[in-house]
Amino acid sequence: MEISLDGKVALVTGGASGIGRGIAEMFAELGAAVMIGDLDMELAEEACAGIVEASGKAIVQELDVTSEESVGAAFERAVSELGGVDILVNSAGTGCMSALDELIVEEWDMVIDVNLKGSFLCMREAAKLMKEKGSGNIINVSSINDTVPIAGEIPYCASKGGVRQMTRAAALELGPYGIHVNCISPGSIQTPLMFEMHEIPEIREGILRQIPFGRLGQPEDVAKVAVFLVSDLADYVTGHTLEVGGGMHLVGEMSYLWPIERIMGNEVPDVPICQPPNAPEEE
Ligand SMILES: NC(=O)c1ccc[n+]([C@@H]2O[C@H](COP(=O)([O-])OP(=O)(O)OC[C@H]3O[C@@H](n4cnc5c(N)ncnc54)[C@H](O)[C@@H]3O)[C@@H](O)[C@H]2O)c1
Repeated sequence: MEISLDGKVALVTGGASGIGRGIAEMFAELGAAVMIGDLDMELAEEACAGIVEASGKAIVQELDVTSEESVGAAFERAVSELGGVDILVNSAGTGCMSALDELIVEEWDMVIDVNLKGSFLCMREAAKLMKEKGSGNIINVSSINDTVPIAGEIPYCASKGGVRQMTRAAALELGPYGIHVNCISPGSIQTPLMFEMHEIPEIREGILRQIPFGRLGQPEDVAKVAVFLVSDLADYVTGHTLEVGGGMHLVGEMSYLWPIERIMGNEVPDVPICQPPNAPEEE
């Protein structure tokens, strides 16, 4: 079966970089008209130029997913310039590392706002259009940390757990209108979000030991699953979360960031009981 997204319009938040960019590029390659919505306009323009150069259709939209006005404007433009939104991918995301007792409210708000509220605001606008049309596809990008906890990343884990469950509730609510809502939970993917960590050999090795397939993921690994989810192959699939991490979610020992923090030179609590058996060895 050949997969074509001809005639479809996809809005990809966080589409300027990493996973969102990989998805935007693959969707465009398959014929979709793509709106790249992102805060980073320089990167968004670069991503868009790449798609257009490869004969794809794309436009950029300055977008802050935490702002109702900004999200509203993006959907309005998608309707007026591209004819609607058939596919929404919520990939814009962020995180912060901090021990719970040092976590400041601004950090908490920032992570929850971008990852959880941002996905909600975009889903809400998409639902209005898709209900009217009687069809549509929404993909939320969560993280394996939606179920596998990480010490030192409580807001991130909370936001992604929320995204996973929000996906299920929205799928239940929107199913009767012919709208698919699914979630992708990536493992450790080589994107700018992770470059710093992946470049430190001890951390890279530590992460690799937790991936049964033995390699880091690429944005294309996630994009292929996104294509599956919006294709006819997944016609009968909704409310599902697909882990895309080479089996990393099965290992679950990424739960401890303290060894990583130590390698990065940050002060962390002395909690030997929390050391996973395969944590990078301390000097
Ligand atoms: N890379 C990984 O290993 C990994 C693992 C699990 C989950 N994820 C999730 O995948 C998604 C994409 O991450 P990535 O690795 O591609 O990161 P990335 O940093 O490469 O891309 C994220 C993009 O989101 C944009 N963005 C941030 N805040 C925004 C806002 N308020 N409004 C609009 N755009 C905003 C950034 O400008 C950036 O272009 C995130 O939700 C992330 O949590 C990534």
